[in-house]
Amino acid sequence: MNRPVLAANWKMNNGPTMSREFMQAFLDQYPRQNDRTILFFPPALSFAAVADAIDDRRDILLGVQNVHWEDQGAFTGELSVNMARDAGARVILVGHSERRHVFGETDEQTALKCAAAERSGMTPLLCVGEKLEEREAGQASEIVVRQLRAGFSGMKQLATRDVMVAYEPVWAIGTGRTATPEDAATMHGIIREELKELCGDRARVTPILYGGSVNPGNAASLLRSENVDGLLVGGASLDAGSWLAIAKA
Ligand code: PGA
Repeated sequence: MNRPVLAANWKMNNGPTMSREFMQAFLDQYPRQNDRTILFFPPALSFAAVADAIDDRRDILLGVQNVHWEDQGAFTGELSVNMARDAGARVILVGHSERRHVFGETDEQTALKCAAAERSGMTPLLCVGEKLEEREAGQASEIVVRQLRAGFSGMKQLATRDVMVAYEPVWAIGTGRTATPEDAATMHGIIREELKELCGDRARVTPILYGGSVNPGNAASLLRSENVDGLLVGGASLDAGSWLAIAKA
């Protein structure tokens, strides 16, 4: 198995003060572990607080929850990949289901964002996942493969560059309804096969994370599923105790 990646997506939670408190509580209990990578996606305004807290911890990486694809300019409210890199981010979350389904992010936009990440030497973490009605209509894998191909379609060096994928079925996000380890393994296998087409040999080492109502009780069994290389966690990453349990899973 690849070295697991355990990612906390805080969404629009934890301002700078809460982020500092959280990191202090977490780091006190989480000594450096070399067999896994921890990744935090704090809100942009809390990024510096988290970056200061992790300081020299090379086992912990930071990412941003969203970027614009242009390098700079008149885009009020947006952040560029170069700014994210300058602030210390290594990973860009792209196409999270809330971006797609609450804010209307399209496949084309995910492609532009992944390409921007590549240009600036950052790793895109592309999220893919079907809605409940799509799963019930038997279209889950078709949707996931479409999002995957589209998201990476603007990248030119997929065979040599680091990318990550998260399978996040929309019906499992924030609902308490998790995909079973078997469901996850099936879809992750499909994603791995598709990645072989896109990235060649690199597909074997491309982390494919599962996300959607992960909690301390189901984290270990999901991580044991075939082709599940890590977890992307929303709600359960907001409490230092439950996040600690998942980080140590
Ligand atoms: P959840 O969110 O863990 O709260 O379901 C996961 C995500 O949206 O990345």
